[in-house]
Amino acid sequence: MIRRILNVNGFEKMVTVDPGASLASVLRENLFLTGTKVGCGKGECGACSVIMNGKLIRSCIVKMEKVPDNAVIITIEGIGTPQNLHPLQHAWIKYNGAQCGFCAPGFIVSAKALLDENANPSRKEVRDWFQKNHNACRCTGYKPLVDATMDAAKVMRGEMKVKDLAFKMPKDGKIWNTNYYPRPSALGKVTGTVRYGADMILGMPKDTLHLALVQAEVSHAKILSINTSKAEKMPGVFKVLTHKDVKGKNRISGLITFPTNKGDGWDRPILCDEKIYQYGDVVGIVCADTEENARAAAKAVELKLEELPSYMSAPAAMAPGAIEIHPGTPNVYFTVPIKKGDETAPIMAKAPFVVEDEFYTQRQPHMPIEPDVGLAYFNEAGVLFIHSKSTAIFFHYAMILEGIGIAPDKLIIANNEAVGGMFGYKLSPTMEAYLGVAAMATGRPVALKYDWFQQQTYTGKRSPWWLKVKLAADKKGKLMALESDWTVDHGPYSEFGDLLTIHGAENICGCYSVPNIRGEGRTVCTNHAWGSAFRAFGAPQSEFATEVLMDELAEKIGMDPFELRYVNVLKPGDTTPTGCPPDVYALPGLLDMMRPLYKEAVKKAKKESTPNIKRGVGIACGEYNCAMEGTDTSEAWIEITKEGAIAYTSWEDPGQGGDMGTLATAHEGLRPLGIKPENIKLVMNDMSRVPNSGPAGASRAQLMIGQAIKNACDQLVAAMKKPDGSFLTYDEMVKKNIPLKYVGSFTTQGTFPNIVEDMQGNPYVAQQWAVFMAEVEIDVKTGDTKVIKMTYCGDHGVIGNKLSVDGQVYGGLAQGIGLALSEDFEDIKKHSTMTGAGFPFINEIPDDLEIHYQQTPRANGPFGAAGCGEGPLTSPHAAIINGIYNACGVRITKLPAYPEKVLKGLKAKK
Ligand code: FES
Ligand code: FES
Repeated sequence: MIRRILNVNGFEKMVTVDPGASLASVLRENLFLTGTKVGCGKGECGACSVIMNGKLIRSCIVKMEKVPDNAVIITIEGIGTPQNLHPLQHAWIKYNGAQCGFCAPGFIVSAKALLDENANPSRKEVRDWFQKNHNACRCTGYKPLVDATMDAAKVMRGEMKVKDLAFKMPKDGKIWNTNYYPRPSALGKVTGTVRYGADMILGMPKDTLHLALVQAEVSHAKILSINTSKAEKMPGVFKVLTHKDVKGKNRISGLITFPTNKGDGWDRPILCDEKIYQYGDVVGIVCADTEENARAAAKAVELKLEELPSYMSAPAAMAPGAIEIHPGTPNVYFTVPIKKGDETAPIMAKAPFVVEDEFYTQRQPHMPIEPDVGLAYFNEAGVLFIHSKSTAIFFHYAMILEGIGIAPDKLIIANNEAVGGMFGYKLSPTMEAYLGVAAMATGRPVALKYDWFQQQTYTGKRSPWWLKVKLAADKKGKLMALESDWTVDHGPYSEFGDLLTIHGAENICGCYSVPNIRGEGRTVCTNHAWGSAFRAFGAPQSEFATEVLMDELAEKIGMDPFELRYVNVLKPGDTTPTGCPPDVYALPGLLDMMRPLYKEAVKKAKKESTPNIKRGVGIACGEYNCAMEGTDTSEAWIEITKEGAIAYTSWEDPGQGGDMGTLATAHEGLRPLGIKPENIKLVMNDMSRVPNSGPAGASRAQLMIGQAIKNACDQLVAAMKKPDGSFLTYDEMVKKNIPLKYVGSFTTQGTFPNIVEDMQGNPYVAQQWAVFMAEVEIDVKTGDTKVIKMTYCGDHGVIGNKLSVDGQVYGGLAQGIGLALSEDFEDIKKHSTMTGAGFPFINEIPDDLEIHYQQTPRANGPFGAAGCGEGPLTSPHAAIINGIYNACGVRITKLPAYPEKVLKGLKAKK
């Protein structure tokens, strides 16, 4: 142990700590300053940034023995408080710099250190500072963070007033469809006062058991034996659990499994009993007094395995002789056809222009900065509460209930108080079942934290797809026919795999009118990371192939790729690939909006290209649904109170703005009553307190939950209305014994496509539409691609809160750049760190991100709104790849476009 006197945020503190302990852990666990977050724990992400003796440091990699006595340390808590915000915190709120907010304390501390050194930085200096200091953000696309820093600097120089950063309520008191209203959760995030999972764990009772997983380090094996005896004797160990301790079926339910799926959806073990299906599969759980003791004991569990051949890709698992990964279920366990119009072969044979190509999209990792984390306990009534980063609390209840073996009325799933980003991976349960099993087996509160390695290697990923697509067009470029074939590597677990695969039928050429289509897709079981939802689920794969092939077609015809798209995008009278009209015909308008910008960009690229640095412009169209296929349903409650109202929803909020969506929609619905937004309380994301609003996925929340909120508001407003048009007060309602709380609901009536015959149907009541433009430059010596500008024209219906929608667009574009150029999770070791997996830092994302909206009101959306989470990540990567071709003539069809691939293409051209 060492003793240190520290000056932390102006107060002297004495700590006695292990010399090897990190400063981050001492700040958090000894001094309870949990505003300092730990993301990667390895110096890569900057979440743990603090200022020590005037220098910005990453406190997770500074050991206490290196912290000098009397060190002066400033953490986020020392920068400003909720009652007395620093200009940086005001500005972070104004620009929605804290989406999930997990990175916000680190960024704000970092920006403070910069402004201490340089009171008047340029945007470039701000960006270079964040780059140099490893401040990583996965949600915001960085631009808002630079905007916030620049404004805060102006305030600090006296060139701007703090009040200029505040929202000005319009005279009509309307916040719906205004440019800026601060998100209710922002204050807690920018001050480091809101609790994320790891912070909540620090507040758990003393008898809490800390869990560590015993995980396989091979990808496919038979389990011969599991010996826990050594581990059980290790210090602090209370129990070591294996499959024998699971009280239920010991399987996660795939929940929605189509009848033509050859599996039964019960293929994912909670604790592996017979086989290991992928790297990281869990065979045991060590429950101990501390995380360190639990992790040490997990290493002492002895596993005897018989390794089996590992099929690390769909082609490998489909090859002749490959054994069944789940014995009894073929590795190709689901197929889906698409048939629209006439047979395509005769059309292809006669069409003036035919193009075909093969494509591959990689296993994109979600890479939230906050690793997976959760906790569980029994309450006084014997009900098991599991808190996690779930984005589908009611789904997860149903997915783990039978597996862990608990009575239906004894399980509640709730979110951690704040959730640090997830982007889709938490549509699958990750640790919920482990927490449940451990709490049930020990009867004690339990806590589980993944480190970033576990986050990366053992949570679901975007499934890689192999696609073959062929297009025929007439002399004018009008599409005549499409043939498609797509293969989905869904890893070993089937949950949502069939649902993902049908997106190939919906999204390949989803933006275009194609009268005749034939194709087939399939889902394949492999031993690589299991497939989970990722923003735009199936669209980035489908639309990458479509959009690159559209450019190939344009070249063959000799048309401008922009105009080829204009000829073919869905227009009144046209139908989608599933044979139905879309909700609105938004793309012609969006292309009209983009056209002058495109022309300008093309001119500029030509002018600025040099022999060594080639500039180019790429275009892509994108579309996605807003709600689930067929019938979707949602419930929300509204209650009138003396102070205002309470909105109850399960609109999970990993940063996208579930808080703001609930508030803005409820405020608009209750506007006749004149309730101020600050008087609407939100109760969210805890099954014991809120209704089943359905998951926050598929861009369904604003539409589905929004409609349910509106419905509840309409009922309340009607109940309060007096014959003269004025409204009863709360007291009058109580006196007259009129109900105060109203259950709102909304159900869509789409037609689920016929998955057996032809995938024809009308599955969605609303969609979102986008046009992307990428301006890129290629260094012909290195093959390096730099995106210098992205422009987005999108139609998400009437926008409730522009700040939140902008946030989704910025973040989607940034993830699209990663998808195009750098991100992958193929090599389990190499891609298990943020930098190894190609996480885009600020200098990979251009400062120039331009957004335009066309707000076509949606008949089925609340106050005309649709959804926005997926649209921005449908095909930005395709625009970039098309930009590369436009710049230097290298056509990349297999992602990501690493510099060596571009370089190889350049050499091949020579
Ligand atoms: S750099 Fe410290 S947590 Fe990532
Ligand atoms: S807001 Fe930056 S990681 Fe989520």
